[in-house]
Amino acid sequence: MTQEIVLTGITTTGTPHLGNYVGAIRPAIAASRDTDVRSFYFLADYHALIKCHDPELVHRSTLEIAATWLALGLDTNNAIFYRQSDVPEITELNWLLTCMTAKGLMNRAHAYKDSVQKNLEQGEDPDFGATMGLFAYPILMAADILMFNAHKIPVGRDQIQHVEMARDIAQRFNHHYGEHFTLPEAVVDDHVALLQGLDGRKMSKSYGNTIPLFLPEKQLRKHINKIVTNLQEPGEPKDPDTSTVFQVWRAFATSEQTEAMRQSYAEGIGWGDAKKQLFELINGQVSDARERYEALLANPTDIEEILKQGAEKARAEAAPLISRLRHAVGIRPLG
Ligand code: TRP
Repeated sequence: MTQEIVLTGITTTGTPHLGNYVGAIRPAIAASRDTDVRSFYFLADYHALIKCHDPELVHRSTLEIAATWLALGLDTNNAIFYRQSDVPEITELNWLLTCMTAKGLMNRAHAYKDSVQKNLEQGEDPDFGATMGLFAYPILMAADILMFNAHKIPVGRDQIQHVEMARDIAQRFNHHYGEHFTLPEAVVDDHVALLQGLDGRKMSKSYGNTIPLFLPEKQLRKHINKIVTNLQEPGEPKDPDTSTVFQVWRAFATSEQTEAMRQSYAEGIGWGDAKKQLFELINGQVSDARERYEALLANPTDIEEILKQGAEKARAEAAPLISRLRHAVGIRPLG
């Protein structure tokens, strides 16, 4: 019996924040310990180049994101953890797939369509500012997935379309060249916490309302104190369901702790006190990892070593498939 293969890609842009943590990183790290599946986790650094053309930022973000996942306990014995750019077979596959992908399919990709839409609204040329990287982004993602014949791809809602495109591309390739690829499926977890940011809107880098995951303790406290509340005084009963402080509390608390906090709201807990408790709850959950994170950042060669080992395992899987694929498309020795 073949084991199910689960594959997760992490674009290496930006600094992880608490919203990324509860919505994506925390569940993915828990899943990395699942010995019933074969899992692949990788840093999508070629994807980072689509959005970011600052070499220092790309480099720094790769380091920070690798350190974050390792510090939080990603199980690199059970899961294969590698960097996309360390597996050249992926970019080779990217080309084979590019030649089997209908341009019209890419025209329909959300990220590209959004860019066209924005340009049209501003009276610009539809393709103003769009690179071929942005346009063909879903093909590279298909290569990531199909390279390891992954069955299940845990993603956020915004990525479902890309996994469906990977499936379409795989189907077309299989139809033309023979059955080489497993058809992947997106898996969306509806139960993960969606975190509100400082201003009560969804926590997101684009709103500038995030709390970075591994802020030093003092700064974490400061950020939590900046969460917007209403003007109710201590002693006044408060409504937890419209309170960002409570919503954030809930994403970190056990159900008992959540009920206890609900009770405190009814009893009129002051905002200062609620925030102090929230700081302690979050800090208690991240402080050990923060120490490991700092230690890893101070020793990037240790991370490099882990990634190199991961790449070796990944390439051991990728190389035989790419050589079958080259053969299948007619790229073969002449003699
Ligand atoms: N595009 C994904 C994102 O922005 C990251 C990603 C790249 C990915 N390749 C992937 C996710 C393959 C799953 C599978 O979130």
